[in-house]
Amino acid sequence: MIIKDAHFLCSNSKIDKLPKDNMPEYAFIGRSNVGKSSLINALVQKKGLAKTSATPGKTIAINHFVVNGQWYLVDLPGYGYARRSKKSREEWRVMLANYIARRRNLMYTFVLVDSRIEPQDSDIGFMEWLGENQIPFSIVFTKADKLSNNELNTNVEAYKKRLLEDWEELPPIFVTSAETKQGREELLDFIEQQNLELENYLKTKGL
Ligand code: GTP
Ligand code: MG
Repeated sequence: MIIKDAHFLCSNSKIDKLPKDNMPEYAFIGRSNVGKSSLINALVQKKGLAKTSATPGKTIAINHFVVNGQWYLVDLPGYGYARRSKKSREEWRVMLANYIARRRNLMYTFVLVDSRIEPQDSDIGFMEWLGENQIPFSIVFTKADKLSNNELNTNVEAYKKRLLEDWEELPPIFVTSAETKQGREELLDFIEQQNLELENYLKTKGL
């Protein structure tokens, strides 16, 4: 997919204020500092579009970006950020759960995990919740540039093995780096394919 335009639309902490659900939407989620905002910027090739930071907890609301005037890219706050109060973490958890479960145009949730670390209970638990709620998701390994190919393969294979303990089949998996743009084309092609399938489905329904 060629990115002709990508711009920031709005930032919300209340789900009843979200933009109209009239375009397919793709959300990036994962633990704080995993690289959600950086990957969004790498995808659309616009540094600084989504705010990034070396300090976890940078993204604190649901941020909508419009790509090519045709679909939404959504940057979400990281979950499991320990420095927030328990009450505030619980509020975020409920807000994110409501957003994901209720957003009608949400086509895919991309769960980002750091390719350098072993499967974390918070990520595995979140994926289980997505599965239970029948929300399509994909796993995106981030920061691949920080590992050798060998290390990367070992970690990805170990992750798949862990997933297959709970799941019969694996979700779509992408290995990415915001630094080298590894995985960028694959992710964009996947999104394009989903958009096309939706378009065709709507056509068959006469919409
Ligand atoms: P929160 O909004 O705080 O939840 O974080 P986030 O998941 O949006 O992470 P962000 O994109 O802000 O990146 C966190 C840190 O990781 C920054 O210092 C980035 O420069 C760095 N980073 C992100 N992606 C990559 C990558 O692919 N390679 C390398 N080497 N560093 C990365
Ligand atoms: Mg962020």
